[in-house]
Amino acid sequence: MKRLIFLIMLVAAAAVLFVQSASINADEGVSPGGDILYTKPVKSVVFSHRLHVEDKGLSCDMCHSGLFDASALRAQEKGDFTMESLYKGKYCGACHDGKTAFASNTQCARCHIGVKGFNAAQKGGNGPGMDLQGPKDAIAIGAGDSAVRFSHWSHTKSIKCDGCHSELFPMKRGKTTITMGAIYQGKFCGACHNGKRAFPVGDCAKCHKIMPAPKEDLVYKVKDLSPVRFSHQFHRNLFGCKDCHSKPFAMKQTPGRMNMDAINSGKYCGACHNGKKAFSAAECTKCHIDSKS
Ligand code: HEC
Ligand code: HEC
Ligand code: HEC
Ligand code: HEC
Ligand code: HEC
Ligand code: HEC
Ligand code: HEC
Ligand code: HEC
Ligand code: HEC
Repeated sequence: MKRLIFLIMLVAAAAVLFVQSASINADEGVSPGGDILYTKPVKSVVFSHRLHVEDKGLSCDMCHSGLFDASALRAQEKGDFTMESLYKGKYCGACHDGKTAFASNTQCARCHIGVKGFNAAQKGGNGPGMDLQGPKDAIAIGAGDSAVRFSHWSHTKSIKCDGCHSELFPMKRGKTTITMGAIYQGKFCGACHNGKRAFPVGDCAKCHKIMPAPKEDLVYKVKDLSPVRFSHQFHRNLFGCKDCHSKPFAMKQTPGRMNMDAINSGKYCGACHNGKKAFSAAECTKCHIDSKS
């Protein structure tokens, strides 16, 4: 019974809202107050960043990690931006479920401001909108030697927020682990820093003020034998970068450059792994190991 009354209500409201939306053909978009005004399928529903972020204290990534793109009115281009979806917990319904916030099947008019509300918002708005420019100062990504400073300002001159959020990065610092391996594969910064859209990954110093040592072991596959594993994290506690770079090692992993003959004659690893400075090159299984614990 309750359900039936609700359904009738919904149909009635739909009729009114549709008639209203058919009769007016004004601009769509963002009000001078910074509110987002939806006009499809019905005119109009209001969403306020200021209310949700400043008054209610919700963090950007609560909405911008999958629920909504960082681009106004994107949702209404999708066919399923309807009450049905909201009731299923999508879009606004993720919170407007009667627990986190008032339920989507109550207080229709708080979201549906209609044509009158739309016109009022288009004219005056309610003061300046929220600043949605992203962090003004460069932000630090990661910690320690590998940390990189990232400037929103220099990127948002030519790239819109949704060029990066939230497909490449969440709208919150420190939630993802970014590795060079992933960047080389075209993820994270590597989606653009590939020498086509922006300078290539090889220009290490443009991103890294300090050159970081790899966190993961360098692994060299060897035919019919366990792979060689070289740990920077271990060796860098005993030596400075200069002890190894750029002699005897170039600062780029190059499988096949080294071999046992060279090592046994004191080159590469053999400069130390000679039984004096460190264990000798005869102890095969200390370097050729399947995995380390
Ligand atoms: C309660 C949910 C919610 C929160 C919290 C939230 N947003 Fe949004 N944001 C939205 C919605 C909804 C849209 C419109 C998306 C659409 O229509 O598809 C939007 C759009 C945007 C846009 C695009 C605006 C434009 O004019 O194109 C930016 C930029 C943005 N948000 C940044 C932020 C930032 C920065 C924060 C944190 C300070 C934040 N948002 C917090 C829901 C939210
Ligand atoms: C991340 C959770 C979240 C999402 C997503 C969200 N809201 Fe809200 N909203 C809230 C909370 C929390 C409140 C304040 C609690 C309440 O009033 O029940 C609120 C309050 C409101 C209000 C009341 C404003 C007033 O007059 O006090 C409106 C209108 C509203 N939301 C519209 C929307 C619309 C439209 C969407 C989708 C485009 C949306 N919200 C998405 C959490 C959310
Ligand atoms: C939390 C905010 C919110 C509340 C509360 C809400 N709506 Fe909606 N409604 C939306 C959004 C967002 C859309 C899609 C955007 C648009 O149509 O402008 C929408 C669209 C609609 C539509 C057109 C799409 C469809 O589902 O057929 C109807 C009809 C509708 N609402 C009726 C209602 C009625 C009736 C109520 C109260 C029982 C209600 N709404 C309460 C946010 C809300
Ligand atoms: C070129 C890519 C790029 C663009 C474009 C971009 N951002 Fe970001 N944004 C990032 C990265 C990277 C982070 C940090 C993510 C991490 O640490 O994992 C970030 C983080 C954020 C944060 C969280 C900051 C914090 O302290 O937690 C907000 C808010 C944000 N961005 C908003 C925006 C807004 C608004 C826009 C559009 C005006 C925008 N971003 C455009 C890449 C971008
Ligand atoms: C959506 C594409 C895109 C992504 C993702 C991106 N960049 Fe950029 N970046 C650019 C473009 C375009 C330029 C300007 C052209 C150039 O310098 O080659 C640029 C310039 C830069 C610059 C030089 C300007 C400055 O700020 O000093 C640095 C440094 C930089 N990016 C670092 C990063 C880092 C670090 C990341 C990942 C956290 C990242 N970028 C992600 C597109 C991107
Ligand atoms: C476009 C920007 C950019 C360029 C260019 C770049 N890096 Fe990175 N690098 C990053 C970011 C972002 C991180 C993640 C920072 C963190 O979480 O500590 C990172 C992390 C690292 C790390 C630590 C994580 C890991 O994968 O071991 C190393 C080592 C590293 N970079 C080395 C390099 C070297 C060597 C080059 C040049 C061949 C280079 N980077 C070029 C952005 C860049
Ligand atoms: C004990 C010797 C040793 C020390 C000390 C050392 N490295 Fe390396 N490093 C290597 C070797 C071996 C390679 C791989 C060379 C090859 O394959 O030809 C390498 C490669 C690298 C690479 C390239 C990684 C890649 O994926 O291409 C970077 C970056 C690097 N080192 C940075 C550093 C930094 C920064 C320090 C100081 C904090 C440091 N290294 C200290 C031995 C060392
Ligand atoms: C500058 C001297 C130096 C160079 C060059 C060097 N090592 Fe070492 N290495 C050491 C010392 C010192 C130890 C610790 C003492 C010991 O275990 O005998 C060590 C320990 C190790 C260990 C055991 C600790 C661990 O990481 O689990 C391995 C494996 C290893 N080295 C592999 C290599 C490989 C492979 C190379 C060449 C790519 C190499 N080392 C180059 C000095 C060096
Ligand atoms: C100090 C570390 C270390 C020790 C100990 C070591 N190796 Fe190696 N081994 C390497 C490195 C580094 C490579 C070169 C991997 C590359 O560049 O692809 C290599 C490559 C090889 C290769 C392929 C290239 C070639 O020279 O033919 C064979 C076979 C090999 N090792 C056998 C052995 C045997 C057998 C022992 C024990 C007698 C041994 N290794 C001990 C580090 C070591």
